[in-house]
Amino acid sequence: MESSDAELKEKIISLKKRKSAVILAHNYQLGEIQDIADFVGDSLELSQKAAKTEAEVIVFCGVHFMAETASILCPDKVVLLPDRHAGCPMADMITAEGLRERKRELPGAIVVCYVNSSAAVKAESDVCCTSANAVKVVDSLDAEEVLFVPDQYLGDYVSTQTDKRIIPWPGFCPTHIRIQPQDISRLKAEHPQAKAVVHPECRPEVIALADEVMSTGGMIRFARETGQEEMIVGTEIGIIHRLRKENPGKKFIPASEQAICPRMKLITLESVLWSLQEMTPEVRVPEGIRLEAKAAVDKMLEIGRG
Ligand code: 13P
Ligand code: SF4
Repeated sequence: MESSDAELKEKIISLKKRKSAVILAHNYQLGEIQDIADFVGDSLELSQKAAKTEAEVIVFCGVHFMAETASILCPDKVVLLPDRHAGCPMADMITAEGLRERKRELPGAIVVCYVNSSAAVKAESDVCCTSANAVKVVDSLDAEEVLFVPDQYLGDYVSTQTDKRIIPWPGFCPTHIRIQPQDISRLKAEHPQAKAVVHPECRPEVIALADEVMSTGGMIRFARETGQEEMIVGTEIGIIHRLRKENPGKKFIPASEQAICPRMKLITLESVLWSLQEMTPEVRVPEGIRLEAKAAVDKMLEIGRG
């Protein structure tokens, strides 16, 4: 007999306590996953949370690079990714070998690596960034030329906010490119009071029409703090659940109903329960790569503290 959501949630909560586990969920996760998580956040907030947790087990409800980052920061903990197929297609658009080749062509450039990348790519990079701190990280560097990998659109956005020369890698997010400039123009015409807030993974033509550009964590704070009653939300639609839950009086309009990340949606209550029961699939990074990748992640976290 199938279990109801309420039964599954109850089982997850009691097993989580028994195993001394913490559940971390990204803002794009299904609503029911966000609701059972101990913490919901953006990539930067989740890595900060993982770095500080005292739990023995981290159940990472997100995609593979996020679980890997948690394992890079907490090698003594068991990091579980409830579905092994939950990878980020953008992260797969670059390999360590490809990056090594490009570095040989650009010996003077510093490599800034968006956290949406594998541990092996991070290990080849000088410093990591997330969408929340990319401009700050690039500005802090003592170099004029930056090879920015793997998101060309985040790289392009950063180049509009800094004096440094950005050389982008040609990767992109298949979910964010579904948001078209005409979606923003149409919704702005239909909701003239609304602020259009978009993620920097969107195309430059979309960013040009936005009122604000920020990470998912930034959007959560903006929604809470703004006096504005209506917001057009230019990112993956999973975030709408949290925005509505935390701001019941406000209106949130997805920029595009097509902006769904299928890999984020692989994590379900069933897979979280199974993962905790079986303590699998575990994400672990080989020690040599982990240490090199950690140097790039630590440098980012250090810049954030500065
Ligand atoms: P945030 O860091 O803004 O949460 O973004 C993560 C991500 O994967 C965006 O597609
Ligand atoms: Fe990767 Fe895009 Fe999904 Fe974020 S939304 S995890 S960048 S595919």
